[in-house]
Amino acid sequence: MSNLDTAWITGIRMGVCRVRRRAGQLPVVLAVDTGPKALDLAARAGALPDACRKAGLRGVTVPDGSNPVVLAGAVESACAGGIPDVVAVTGCGVAAVADGPETARLRLKACLEGVAIEPKGTRPLSAGRLAGQVVLVTGGAQGFGKGIAESLIREGAAVVVADLNEAIGVQTADELNRMAGGAVARFVRMDVTSLASLETGVAETVRVFGGLDILVANAGVLKAGSIEELDERAFDLVTAVNYKAYFLCVRAAVPVMKLQRALCPGIWMDVVQINSKSGLEGSNKNFAYAGSKFGGIGLTQSFALELVEYGIKVNSICPGNYYEGPLWSDPEKGLFVQYLRTGKVPGAKTIDDVKAFYMGKVPMRRGCSPLDVTRAILYLHEQEYETGQALPVTGGQVMMN
Ligand SMILES: NC(=O)c1ccc[n+]([C@@H]2O[C@H](COP(=O)([O-])OP(=O)(O)OC[C@H]3O[C@@H](n4cnc5c(N)ncnc54)[C@H](O)[C@@H]3O)[C@@H](O)[C@H]2O)c1
Repeated sequence: MSNLDTAWITGIRMGVCRVRRRAGQLPVVLAVDTGPKALDLAARAGALPDACRKAGLRGVTVPDGSNPVVLAGAVESACAGGIPDVVAVTGCGVAAVADGPETARLRLKACLEGVAIEPKGTRPLSAGRLAGQVVLVTGGAQGFGKGIAESLIREGAAVVVADLNEAIGVQTADELNRMAGGAVARFVRMDVTSLASLETGVAETVRVFGGLDILVANAGVLKAGSIEELDERAFDLVTAVNYKAYFLCVRAAVPVMKLQRALCPGIWMDVVQINSKSGLEGSNKNFAYAGSKFGGIGLTQSFALELVEYGIKVNSICPGNYYEGPLWSDPEKGLFVQYLRTGKVPGAKTIDDVKAFYMGKVPMRRGCSPLDVTRAILYLHEQEYETGQALPVTGGQVMMN
């Protein structure tokens, strides 16, 4: 998908959002088709009204999508008679407009196939603190990312599960859609260490859901070891995924977010990096990880200064350990097993001894959960007077000076 495609889709969404914001309503999501049928519908006079009538929808055609600012204005004018269900742009394709992705997709399908929508069994329009918001979660296939995606969907968001691991990622998106009773999650394969892969993934996010409101830069890896043990390759991998890739994710997301702000002045968007308590204080024999996370906070503060004028807040969340997640609890590769085998916890004879040792470090005597982290994301999203912060979510284990 080209930048031009991304621009016209963003133009439509923001044109509608402008009207809805004036009415104090939430943003919208889109479903888009750029295939031959959609192009034909957008090109033939009378074809769209005809298709919409059959489907019981209201449609408008806009002649030119090459300039997103002009397009957003044209869509805004077309909304004077009420928000359309479908917008066709000549030479570009057709987009369906709705509060939630499932409804948008149904409208698109109904319009392209000329059939009436069957409302029975479909997901109701989204409600919740993130209704109409589009979120991209990197590393969303498992662990914190999966749990965050689930909690954000429960708050009404449409979520792109971005991950290197296609098999688990597809499974996760299917699971989330079953949970929600609609197509609110989409797996998109992305390697956060590759800018090209991220740019393609962000464009796919725009095509599927119409925009990008919140980037959750969550993908991360951990390779622990002493100065003598940890080899250069492991150090480079941790630095590439946890530190450099955070820059690459922001680099790929920012053009869309800037365009959204230009088309819809006054909106705020969020970049949230999932950092770690190890980004706030050193971690014994875990320096590659801690160093990469400390660096991430430097990026957050610097991005925050640069992006504030574009309506993009940038913050890090620094969670404590997620003991129930695969990173710690995987029976073969998890940190509990590793620490037992390597004798990292003096005197520990069983996994329970290792667990008790780590739990004993937390004043609240439990690990951090994805829901704890999601609550912090919701706070940062709703808080309109904060950027560049590193927010600990550690059960009292790490306190800010
Ligand atoms: N688990 C914890 O105790 C803990 C504590 C504090 C912070 N964190 C942070 O939370 C984040 C998630 O950790 P987790 O425990 O859920 O990890 P996890 O290993 O369970 O999941 C990480 C996910 O990231 C994906 N990933 C790895 N490299 C990738 C790449 N190059 N491109 C795309 N995806 C990639 C993996 O496939 C996996 O699905 C990390 O940034 C981690 O540093 C974790």
